Amino acid sequence: MIPENIQRRIRLHVYGKSRIFFAIVQPGFENTALEEMTKIGFDRDGFKILEGGLEFKSNIKDVWKLHLLTRTVTRVLMRIEKFKAVFFNKYCEYISEIPWELHLVPGQSIGFKIKCRHSKLYHTDRLTEETVKGINLRLSRFYKDRDSGIRTDGSPGSSLFIRIDNDICSVSLDCTGDPLYRRNFRIYTEKAPLRETLASCMLLESEASSFDAVVDPMCGSGVIPVEAGMIACGVLPGMRRNFAFEEFPGFSMKAFVFMKKKLTEEYESSGKNISIFAGDIDNKAVETTQMNIDNAGFRDYIKTACTDFFATKKEDFSCGKILLISNPPYGERIKTGNTADFYRKLGMKFRKDFKGCSFAVIIPGMEAEKAFGLSHRKKIIFFNGGIPVSLVIGEI
Ligand SMILES: C[S@@+](CC[C@H](N)C(=O)[O-])C[C@H]1O[C@@H](n2cnc3c(N)ncnc32)[C@H](O)[C@@H]1O
Repeated sequence: MIPENIQRRIRLHVYGKSRIFFAIVQPGFENTALEEMTKIGFDRDGFKILEGGLEFKSNIKDVWKLHLLTRTVTRVLMRIEKFKAVFFNKYCEYISEIPWELHLVPGQSIGFKIKCRHSKLYHTDRLTEETVKGINLRLSRFYKDRDSGIRTDGSPGSSLFIRIDNDICSVSLDCTGDPLYRRNFRIYTEKAPLRETLASCMLLESEASSFDAVVDPMCGSGVIPVEAGMIACGVLPGMRRNFAFEEFPGFSMKAFVFMKKKLTEEYESSGKNISIFAGDIDNKAVETTQMNIDNAGFRDYIKTACTDFFATKKEDFSCGKILLISNPPYGERIKTGNTADFYRKLGMKFRKDFKGCSFAVIIPGMEAEKAFGLSHRKKIIFFNGGIPVSLVIGEI
């Protein structure tokens, strides 16, 4: 039980005022996340864009909302403290001065993600030890009559992210838990699946909602079609999972369930009428996609077919405005012979049989991009599975 005076301070300092947060995003898609978060209701001018994420000011309830709604953000950290540290004893002292009683409760299981660069303190095991010591010292001042420490065994719901850069230590508390691309809508996997957050970035950047049909002709496990279905039907991406902030002191499950219900009503009614197609040459991939579609509740909505894309034409999909969106095979995990030759063939197929359609395709490097040969209106460079690639978007 949290003592009444601490509960009051939590209401005042954690729930009653704005704090600084950091939304981690796939590098390259910071602006995609900014646009999405602005639509969700965050102040566009309040963001600081950094590589791999966005810093923003918010109250924690809007961060709950963000977790339910974002399709592009991977994780959200709450900034806790920043200080200079060069000795372990001083480090522990600083940690013990942070008001942990506002953020953690005794018995809570906490993980540690520590990174050090150009700093005197770099031994991560020792830093974990000193952090636990400092936190427990602080908590013992408020929870005197029992074992007042945090737990570091078992699977942690939340983690402390500690970064020491040139002796400046930044401490952040993870609000998310499992990364947000784990939505629990797609549960079966084929080779080289895209992360859900990346698939959604592709769909948002290519304005998939403005098309009559969205077609992924090389769908693998079906990540893109399932994300497209969720966007089209206004399904909340955070609907089927838990978050680390649910373990924070002061969290109200009742208020959160109410928020989820309100948002579900609001977003589901804003769904768009789009046809979605998922195809693959590999029968097993189509079966996997079908199982994921069923699990997501889109059985009657997303159509699947086992087909060689090079044997299809646009009339097979829809008579309206079509977006071809795909992460074709490339790299070590999926070999198709010569990658440049495959992209040359793909570009030629687009030009021959898909005139008037739009495309959003991941291309691994300049040689493949030149071979693909179609001009684009947008290009975003990023890494996928450790391979430098670009998302190119354009019209045929
Ligand atoms: C990189 S995987 C796609 C992964 C997918 N985006 C996901 O997230 O799961 C490429 C897929 O292209 C399929 N493929 C290769 N050549 C094809 C073709 N000619 N027609 C249709 N599918 C093809 C492969 O079977 C493979 O499943």
